[in-house]
Amino acid sequence: MSTLQITPSISQLRRQLTPWRDEGEQVALVPTMGALHQGHLSLVRQASAMAQRVVVSIFVNPAQFAPHEDFAAYPRTLKSDCDKLADTGVVDLIFSPPPEEMYPPGFATGLTVGGPALGLETDFRPHFFGGVATVVAKLLIAAMPHVAIFGEKDYQQLLVIRRMARDLGLATEIIGAPIVREPDGLALSSRNVYLSSNERMIAGTLNKILADACNQVRACGPIAEIEKQSTNALLSAGFDSVDYVAIRDAQTLAPIEALEQPARILAAAKIGRTRLIDNMSI
Ligand code: PAF
Repeated sequence: MSTLQITPSISQLRRQLTPWRDEGEQVALVPTMGALHQGHLSLVRQASAMAQRVVVSIFVNPAQFAPHEDFAAYPRTLKSDCDKLADTGVVDLIFSPPPEEMYPPGFATGLTVGGPALGLETDFRPHFFGGVATVVAKLLIAAMPHVAIFGEKDYQQLLVIRRMARDLGLATEIIGAPIVREPDGLALSSRNVYLSSNERMIAGTLNKILADACNQVRACGPIAEIEKQSTNALLSAGFDSVDYVAIRDAQTLAPIEALEQPARILAAAKIGRTRLIDNMSI
């Protein structure tokens, strides 16, 4: 049974953080949408290695879901999330606001994002990064943490948030944390619970196909050809559709023609109604 206090309001959050900051303690924020798994808990552990105080936010952000997406069905497991966070022994506070606290009636402000937000996820989920950037900016302004930790699983999101924080002059340092994987290499995701057992087997091929593509890029294979072959390999493995397999500059996500700088392979593909994303450094 969790003994961690859940803070529902921004004003209460600020009141709780003030004495810690006044004492000179570093504060780390781990923003989440709940449905916590080992990947989230690894972010929490990284946060505690970087700061004396760890705040975890749990908020399923309606602004980053399109009307046809899974906002209503998104797993909400607040009680077990709190137990998992309490079990880590390093979390000081959970911020879990109701929707009207983050989006009060009449809310009419949103961030427009460019740069690393262009292409890839944005081609398929045009609303997504605006919604993410807006809620993360609100969380960073509310908590004013020294650092905030985000998983590299959502690599494009990490770059968009880093750019947003820099562009708005927010004082928080944005830290990326490595992807946590299942034994077969499937990246942990709250959406993996949607997979049937057959779909779960197919899902386990995504990381292998990407790892194979990385090796081909390192061996100087032609980038466009590797992207096409990997797409076909995913379809042959049982994915129903592939949104993209893209080999990009690791910092800007601009297309590249050869491996002359740090690069990243990113992919999104659907099995049934579940959309999976993954990425790897090359
Ligand atoms: O990655 C997520 O869980 C969400 O996009 C985030 C960063 C918590 C914003 O809602």
